[in-house]
Amino acid sequence: MLHTVRTAIFPVAGLGTRFLPATKATPKELLPVLDTPLIQYAIDEARDAGIERMVFVSHPSKSAIERHVMDDAALRSQLKARGKVDIAAVLEENAFCHENDDVRFVMQSEPLGLGHAVLCAREHALTGAVAVILPDDLIIGQNCLAEMIEAYEQGNGGHMVASMRVPLDETSKYGILSVANEAGRMLHAKCMVEKPAPQDAPSCHAVVGRYVLDANVFERLQTQVPGAGGEIQLTDAIAKDASALGLAGFSFSGRRFDCGSKAGMLRATLHLASQDPECAAVLEEFSGIVQPRAAA
Ligand code: UTP
Repeated sequence: MLHTVRTAIFPVAGLGTRFLPATKATPKELLPVLDTPLIQYAIDEARDAGIERMVFVSHPSKSAIERHVMDDAALRSQLKARGKVDIAAVLEENAFCHENDDVRFVMQSEPLGLGHAVLCAREHALTGAVAVILPDDLIIGQNCLAEMIEAYEQGNGGHMVASMRVPLDETSKYGILSVANEAGRMLHAKCMVEKPAPQDAPSCHAVVGRYVLDANVFERLQTQVPGAGGEIQLTDAIAKDASALGLAGFSFSGRRFDCGSKAGMLRATLHLASQDPECAAVLEEFSGIVQPRAAA
């Protein structure tokens, strides 16, 4: 049986506290890596993975996200009138319009947690499993969601999460899988726990921001009580169905950057800059003179 994945949910309603003050007025998901906002990388990944419907779970204070995502014909006309036809074409290609694209915005009135954000999208999900993409986890290289959907469609359904190994002293930043066995790029998991201390971590296989979830997750989220950090955690709802539906970690091939943190954003920027000939002179300028500051 083919398990098709037609809907992608983008939770973008969080407070972005780790990136304050930058995120006081500018949503974290619009912070750029070079000249492209994080949300655009996520949209491109979902579009290239063949997703039919995009559902953004946002907050009224983050209306700039909708302005970025949707087409702005007036801006494009202005650009064209000034001879800036190339960038006008890029904007048109990136943006959605309601006539041609299946795109929805729903509001999460309070940031009660990632699980709650996903639940807010329930009424807009098409039949079948749903994809969830966290835009602040930027994955460069192979399209992670496309790889996951391909693997998911060949399997028996259930829940699938993107996973990677992390150092033991970082387990408390992630959901961590309890692995039963490994088969190629799939880790069959007994369960997963949210942000365990290193001594309690069942493995070093961390979950990062790409999920393909059986639609039953909405039922679980409906009754999910707050967990770690007082938030309604997606991890807890996934873990509940791990044995009944199956839970797999998928070792993706791309490189992941945690762009919700300053260090991750800097790494992503340097990585992409190193591939961009326009940035070569600037990187060269700083290559010999950047020294890590000595600890005080
Ligand atoms: P994060 O936990 O990384 O984002 O959530 P955050 O809470 O905004 O940031 P910090 O930790 O305070 O710095 C991952 C994704 O889930 C969304 C965020 O917008 C981000 O894209 N999210 C999180 C929601 O949509 N709603 C929530 O209640 C929580």
